[in-house]
Amino acid sequence: MATATRAAAARAALLLSLVLALALRASGAGADCHFPAIFNFGDSNSDTGGLSAAFGAAPPPNGRTFFGVPSGRYCDGRLVIDFIAESLGIPYLSAYLNSIGTNFSQGANFATAGSSIRRQNTSLFLSGFSPISLDVQSWEFEQFINRSQYVYNNKGGVYRLLLPKAEYFSQALYTFDIGQNDITSSYFANKTTEETEGIIADLMERLTSVIQSVISRGGRYFWIHNTGPLGCLPYALVHRPDLDAPMDAAGCSIAYNKVAQLFNLRLKETVASLRKMHPDAAFTYVDVYTAKYRLISQAKKLGFDDPLLTCCGHGGRYNFDVNIGCGGKAQVNGTWVVVGNSCNDPSKRVSWDGVHFTEAANKFVFDQIVAGALSDPPVALRQACHSRGH
Ligand SMILES: *[C@@H]1O[C@H](CO)[C@@H](O)[C@H](O)[C@H]1NC(C)=O
Ligand SMILES: *[C@@H]1O[C@H](CO)[C@@H](O)[C@H](O)[C@H]1NC(C)=O
Ligand SMILES: *[C@@H]1O[C@H](CO)[C@@H](O)[C@H](O)[C@H]1NC(C)=O
Ligand SMILES: *[C@@H]1O[C@H](CO)[C@@H](O)[C@H](O)[C@H]1NC(C)=O
Ligand SMILES: *[C@@H]1O[C@H](CO)[C@@H](O)[C@H](O)[C@H]1NC(C)=O
Repeated sequence: MATATRAAAARAALLLSLVLALALRASGAGADCHFPAIFNFGDSNSDTGGLSAAFGAAPPPNGRTFFGVPSGRYCDGRLVIDFIAESLGIPYLSAYLNSIGTNFSQGANFATAGSSIRRQNTSLFLSGFSPISLDVQSWEFEQFINRSQYVYNNKGGVYRLLLPKAEYFSQALYTFDIGQNDITSSYFANKTTEETEGIIADLMERLTSVIQSVISRGGRYFWIHNTGPLGCLPYALVHRPDLDAPMDAAGCSIAYNKVAQLFNLRLKETVASLRKMHPDAAFTYVDVYTAKYRLISQAKKLGFDDPLLTCCGHGGRYNFDVNIGCGGKAQVNGTWVVVGNSCNDPSKRVSWDGVHFTEAANKFVFDQIVAGALSDPPVALRQACHSRGH
């Protein structure tokens, strides 16, 4: 009996590897893609200086681990998008909104911290959410193409060393990481879980139309992150809709994570239908949720401290205070002093500031996704030009 079972299992394994090999061959996997550029859309998970350029720089100690100074990132060091750029041999992306010291010859970053897919009907000064919603990012992209090509072709000189070649727009990898702020802004506005889930269909329509506009301008290769387990982030935990309900085993809000999971389910379906509509384009759906939840739920085993305790913050269960962020000041005995200080060893922490991950956590997430283990279809980053429909 045991032998028969083992033989059946061996046959099944052989069959599975044959099917996988055929699927890989059909998808053309194997050859590297040589993306010459990356164009990124998103929120603070991938902002490399956009919000800082316009609305005030992210203060120290942001940037302390890798850049040594604040770099426009809400992190002690590099973000997942930085590791993606590094691994493709592309320099860190300049923020489109940054007017000083930028170099767009191998891509541009339209992401800003606080961005959502939908427009916020409020001001950044009131809500903290960015006015640079995904539709605005797509207008910026359209202007970027038109104007960069005009300048590249008509001005020449140094502009040829600062702007992308025309063919890069169809050869580039287009990366997306957005949606987190649509969910949190809904909960922060005291909407119910039902109301919050109710916006997801609209989010998918808007995301689809932005991706289609990128396709209409020549984009072919898409790498789309899903949203993380938001219910494990201190800023969500202090304002969770299920304050009276128990947390899950990792200490995360069950309600928040369920909405994030529903968003991800719909996103995966949306990416699949884009793949059907555009058989000549390649779409990779990347499950960063699983990578982040793995890190949070197994933090100790992976060599990290309490994953819910922020490195850079001030006070309370999570070392997080909504009114005093990382680098934030408070009045102590009549004088303003920085009280949102960094922990000594950010490499041991998962949460940087209660909203964003540390560089060490970002590296973990990148390592989990780079080879395609969490992707649909399961292609590696370097081969993401092969994620075509069949
Ligand atoms: C903003 O208002 C418009 C029009 O009422 C509405 O359709 C949209 O859902 C609102 N957006 C948000 C983020 O609440
Ligand atoms: C960019 O150029 C295209 C083609 O010439 C034009 O249709 C479009 O309106 C332009 N977009 C912007 C934002 O200038
Ligand atoms: C911009 O970066 C590219 C590499 O991506 C480099 O070849 C080029 O020289 C840089 N431009 C300037 C003006 O330094
Ligand atoms: C949400 O509810 C809390 C608690 O009742 C209240 O303090 C806060 O002002 C409300 N926020 C909004 C945006 O209505
Ligand atoms: C504030 O002043 C009081 C009285 O002088 C002193 O005991 C306390 O240590 C001071 N607090 C800080 C944080 O300096």
